[in-house]
Amino acid sequence: MDVTGSPLDPPAAETFEAVSARAADDPEGFWLDAAQAVDWDVYPTRALDSSGAPLYRWFPDARLNTSYNALDRHVLAGRGDTTALIYDSPVVAKSKRYSYSELLDKVARCAGMLADAGVVAGDRVVIYLPMIPQAVVAMLACARLGAVHSVVFGGFAAKELAARLDDAGAKVIITASGGIEPSRVVEYLPTIVEALALSAHTVQTVIVKDRPEVPGAARDYSTPGAVWIDWHERMLGAEPHAPVSVAATDPLYILYTSGTTGSPKGVVRDNGGHAVAMTWSMKNVYDVHPGEVMWTASDVGWVVGHSYIVYGPLLAGATTVLYEGKPVGTPDAGAFWRVVSDYGVKTLFTSPTALRAIRKADPHAQLAKDYDLTCLDALFLAGERLDPDTWTWATALLSKPVIDHWWQTETGWAICASPHGIERLPLRAGSPSFPLPGYSVEIVDDAGVEVGMLKEGHIVIRLPLPPGTLTTLWQGDQRYIDGYLSTFPGHYLTGDSGYVDREGYLYVMGRTDDIINVAGHRLSTGSMEQVLAEHPAVAECAVIGVHDPIKGQKPAGFVVLKSGFSIDDAVLAMELVAMVRGQIGAVAAFKDVTVVTALPKTRSGKILRKTMRQIVNGETYVVPPTIENTEAIAIIVDSIQQNPAQQNPAQQNPAQQNPTRRSVTS
Ligand code: COA
Ligand code: AMP
Repeated sequence: MDVTGSPLDPPAAETFEAVSARAADDPEGFWLDAAQAVDWDVYPTRALDSSGAPLYRWFPDARLNTSYNALDRHVLAGRGDTTALIYDSPVVAKSKRYSYSELLDKVARCAGMLADAGVVAGDRVVIYLPMIPQAVVAMLACARLGAVHSVVFGGFAAKELAARLDDAGAKVIITASGGIEPSRVVEYLPTIVEALALSAHTVQTVIVKDRPEVPGAARDYSTPGAVWIDWHERMLGAEPHAPVSVAATDPLYILYTSGTTGSPKGVVRDNGGHAVAMTWSMKNVYDVHPGEVMWTASDVGWVVGHSYIVYGPLLAGATTVLYEGKPVGTPDAGAFWRVVSDYGVKTLFTSPTALRAIRKADPHAQLAKDYDLTCLDALFLAGERLDPDTWTWATALLSKPVIDHWWQTETGWAICASPHGIERLPLRAGSPSFPLPGYSVEIVDDAGVEVGMLKEGHIVIRLPLPPGTLTTLWQGDQRYIDGYLSTFPGHYLTGDSGYVDREGYLYVMGRTDDIINVAGHRLSTGSMEQVLAEHPAVAECAVIGVHDPIKGQKPAGFVVLKSGFSIDDAVLAMELVAMVRGQIGAVAAFKDVTVVTALPKTRSGKILRKTMRQIVNGETYVVPPTIENTEAIAIIVDSIQQNPAQQNPAQQNPAQQNPTRRSVTS
């Protein structure tokens, strides 16, 4: 199959307005056209299946295999020697290229190894790996068998891993001896053992990639009910496995993401809609074509890594870069510019946090001057709000389009973006531009009424969502309906608030729930509160997101002690920080605890977290008339005036000093 595009692709001259109109007027025709860029075992005759509304399915009568589309078809088209994957690791000083033929061979043998372990289509495989090529191989091997992978980010602790093993009902775990952080080696195998002990579900096989840099190997471990095997040994003897044809509607992966309080939500991605959306977006959003190099500097544990380190570039026949390092400190703030110039990166995609970290370390981008960046066509940013200051800095530095685009784990690809591959529209600081074809975005008030331009409200998307977006939550149709589709019937609730300007540019301002975004990582403050509440000294607590100049936000905990409980504040803070790190993971970056004598509450006992957040972030706040304990406001104001860990303590409302707070930073 020719992967450069089908005869029905829109002509290059078609404007974004025209493409959007085609998608809105005839979604069925639009997505069936887009489906021609995918190789199907059974070709779709229909695009949308609304029979289960408000749950929708795409390409209900079609069959395909995602790994065949990402690998085999490029090799069969004579492009086996093209580089598929470049692994670059400053932390172990390695760089290696894999051609499409080489990657196909590894994926087919890994699929054979999984089949030998009893994995069949529909089984779930948890992947807990650092940023090494085996992560990509393992994901595609699952796809090859029709098995469902669930990648868990390496910064999560055993309890979070156990929750995912249980919910997914994983048959196999694929892991490594560990990951390498600039400051330390992170051993994974003790975490796996702890997670297996915590999990109610029995995992049958643990496959371990032994890394020479990290102690521990499969032979050192045994756990009840599970066989531990060595990746290298089994791969050597494994027979290559052919791709298994699955229904387009069958799940490709589950990716857990933070919800409000409660267990993490397993976002389910299908095979067919996903392949179509990835392929469409590579060309029309990113303007990346076969043989061109895309580097997404994220982690395969996040949705950005799933979509644009692994699936998008490989489905498009492009070259992807897997970077095991940081924007700064591996070894310096020139690392990103080195990778761009070393590998001829056309399209770079990263998070605003990464840029802010580079800017802090190298404000005038002196290190960029050492590298030839002429290959770079555009820089895409997502994962959190892109502040106008960082956008302006990056635009001036690169003299290339710096394109903010807004999406979520749930959507799997951008809701709003500037469609770089269709038309190069003017960009605006602070805005991810316009809704992409397939997304009908509205801004509504609490009653669900559209608010009109320039007014902030809930950002919702009219159903159905386009192909590639979540089809449901794993074993949680009702949870999906209750959490996302019921607040404003007929619409998907994004959980973000924002507004649209006079020219239709969208501005995303922040979450309306208890989700915070720390260094582009999505975290639930509710989950952190659950951990704090387990401490015997804590009577009640609130965790809120505080502005951070590099990471965007950071969590700050406020706790009230049980009456009569005596504990040193610093000791309590250390214990609470250790508990969050131990139960959620280092990635939560939970470091600030303030002990107060009261939290502001309504008469019905609801903690006024929004008011607390506004106070702590130095925003104008209005004390709700329903407040039960007005004096608690002064306690919070006072606490942040005295806590040097708070970055943004400018107070809009003067408040009296109050001696009833104690603040500690661990
Ligand atoms: N495995 C184990 N631990 C991890 C980890 C992983 N994969 N990733 C992060 N951690 C740990 C870190 O070591 C750190 O631990 P520490 O508290 O012992 O220092 C903690 O989690 C917080 O990590 P991080 O948020 O990365 O902060 P940092 O101070 O180490 O680094 C930046 C700061 C800016 C360099 C880093 O946050 C970064 O690279 N951000 C960009 C993130 C990104 O690209 N996100 C993609 C979303 S699209
Ligand atoms: P995640 O599911 O981890 O990708 O996080 C999704 C959330 O990150 C969104 O709901 C937003 O709150 C935030 N987000 C992602 N991209 C952007 C962006 N470009 N602008 C503003 N917020 C963003």
